[in-house]
Order: sequence, then C-alpha cells, then structure tokens
Amino acid sequence: MSKKSSLDSLGFNPAEKLINGHTLTKVEFVELLKESENPEIRTILTEEAVRLRKVYYGDKVYTRGLIEFTNYCKNNCYYCGIRCGNKNAGRYRMSQEEILDCCENGYGLGFRTFVLQGGEDPFYTDERMARIIRKIKETYPDCALTLSIGEKSYDSFRLFKEAGADRYLLRHETADEAHYRKLHPENMSLSNRKRCLYDLKSLGYQVGAGFMVGSPGQGKEELAEDLLFLSELQPQMVGIGPFIPHHDTRFAEEEAGSVDLTLFLLSVIRILLPRALLPATTALGTIDPEGREKGLLAGANVVMPNLSPVKNRKQYDLYDNKICTGEEAAECRGCLARRVESVGYRLVNERGDACE
Ligand code: 5AD
Ligand code: FES
Repeated sequence: MSKKSSLDSLGFNPAEKLINGHTLTKVEFVELLKESENPEIRTILTEEAVRLRKVYYGDKVYTRGLIEFTNYCKNNCYYCGIRCGNKNAGRYRMSQEEILDCCENGYGLGFRTFVLQGGEDPFYTDERMARIIRKIKETYPDCALTLSIGEKSYDSFRLFKEAGADRYLLRHETADEAHYRKLHPENMSLSNRKRCLYDLKSLGYQVGAGFMVGSPGQGKEELAEDLLFLSELQPQMVGIGPFIPHHDTRFAEEEAGSVDLTLFLLSVIRILLPRALLPATTALGTIDPEGREKGLLAGANVVMPNLSPVKNRKQYDLYDNKICTGEEAAECRGCLARRVESVGYRLVNERGDACE
C-alpha cells in the first residue's frame, strides 16, 4: 500500500499533510500529536523522517564537542539545576586556557565543531567572550564554533559574529506565553527570547531553537505552538530532549518527559524541517540507556559528546542523573562512535554545517 492510501484508510490527514510539505494549522498539529501513540502513524512518520535524513545527510552523523565552560548563571529558570537560586550548586568557571585545552584535546579526537555552552555568567563580558572566540577561530580555522550562552543584545551577537562565531544555540523552551510564565521568573520573557533568535538569524548565524519534551504544564496545545514557531523561524538546528526533574527545583517531584513522545517529535521535526541538524541529546540518553540510538533511528543526525574536564562535569548539573559525567572525552567519542555504528550510521570528522 502506498503511504497516501494507508493514511487515507486510517481516515487521518494531518500526517499526510505534513509529509506532503503542507503548512499545518495549530488545530492540525494538535490532531497530529493525538496520534503520537498510534503505531501505524508512528511507523509512517518514522520511515519518512529516516528517508529524508538519508536524502540530505546519508549515513553521516555529525559530532559537536561540548565545552560547558561555566555553570554560573544570573537567571533562575525554574526547571534548571544551575539556576542562580540554587544555593546547593557548586559553581565553577573555566579560564581561556582551560577552554583552549579542551579544544586541543577535541581537535585531536576528530572534532571539527566546538560548542561553548554556559549559564548567563556576567564574568564573561562581551570583550572577554570575543577574545576567546577569536583565539579559538585563529587556532582552529577549519572548525566551526557554536555559542550557547543565552540571551544577549543585538550588538553583542554582532560582536561575537564578527569575532568568528558561526552558530548559536538558544532553545526557545516553549512558544506558549502562559507556559513560558510557568517555567520562568518575571524578569524573563518569551518575546525577548524570540527577538534573540530573529536577531541571530539576521546576523547570519546558523541558529538552533528547541524545547524540552514533557516539561511541567506542557500539553498538546503547547507542543503545537512549538511546532508552529519552528515552522515560522525555520532554524537550522533544533535541540529537543525530555524534561528531567532536578532535585533542587520546584519541579523535583514532577514526572520526566516520555522517550516515545520525544522520538515522535524528532520524526515530526525532521519532516517539518528536512535539512535541520537534530541532535540525539544527552537528556534522551539519560532517561533511556539506548535513547541516543533511538533518536538517530527517529531522524536525528547529530551527537554532542562532552569535552569538558571530568572534574567539572558533575557540576554542570541541569537535571538529575546526567550521563557521561565520569568519562574522559576520548571514551565519550569512542563510546558514541560504537553506538552510532550499532544503528547503521557513521560518525564523521567534519564541521557538519546545515545543508543549503
Ligand atoms: N531537564 C531537561 N533539560 C533541561 N534543560 C535545562 N534544565 C533541564 C531539565 N531539568 C535544557 C534546557 C536548556 C538546555 C541547555 O538544557 O532546554 O536550554
Ligand atoms: Fe560519554 Fe558514552 S557518550 S561515555
């Protein structure tokens, strides 16, 4: 049976519309999400997602060396273990030298993208950040540099771009106003978050948005808003992973997000944005020991092993039981290469830009 007729026979068409590249309304996205546990719909969407990822990326899986260089943060996002209000969090920040050591180690292991990720830490002034960016790009001109350091002004984003940054990750977290308010304190706003993402795009960054799956207060309506926002923004990268409660937050007793819903959404996002760079995230690997492999089989094409010094890893404690906090970078790379191969893909030593 063709894809079309099997969908027709189920009397269901948002999935068909999605596959055929039509724009879905919010109501249609909600309808689609209601089918997230329907095995036939899941199979059809997964197959289409895998087909598309192969069209654009073949069997390649790109790798990013993640350097979590500071866990100081001036924000107090309610779900996050390193929010400023968590007085139990042991804090660290890395020097420029330590960051460069991570890059050197990573370069030797084959990484050609480095991701500098941190809390919003005022110690790293724009000038200090720009110096680090210039130094990394000067030392590794064949590598891409991604920043993931939160909300900044247009001028700061411009300075970092001029210093050599190529990409920027800033998950929108939720595109629903009321849901955003449940997850963040008063001094933060969804509109500023979106402003940042559009500024980054206009400055020529490859931009990554994204959200947690199953965060407290998230239902199908909220997820539909996330999908609508992604189709409006058209980011080059989308990071999604399950919400995982952290013991020192107000959401400590909440349930973690679901693996199956995360996988369903990965497939939907692959179809919505076929060229997107989609990581199989550490959070997915944390709630399911085979989560990252399952992510790749659902349409993901990126993995982001940790290059941070082992002494700091446990302190970059966004959520409980985070994996890979005891491993050296070389072990992580080897472990991931094996995992990627076990599902029929291969880890490549390339910058891994989004395809045009
Ligand atoms: N569970 C899962 N993901 C989380 N993040 C922050 N806290 C948690 C949590 N408790 C995610 C956010 C952020 C990214 C760096 O980590 O989406 O953007
Ligand atoms: Fe870190 Fe497997 S990815 S040990």
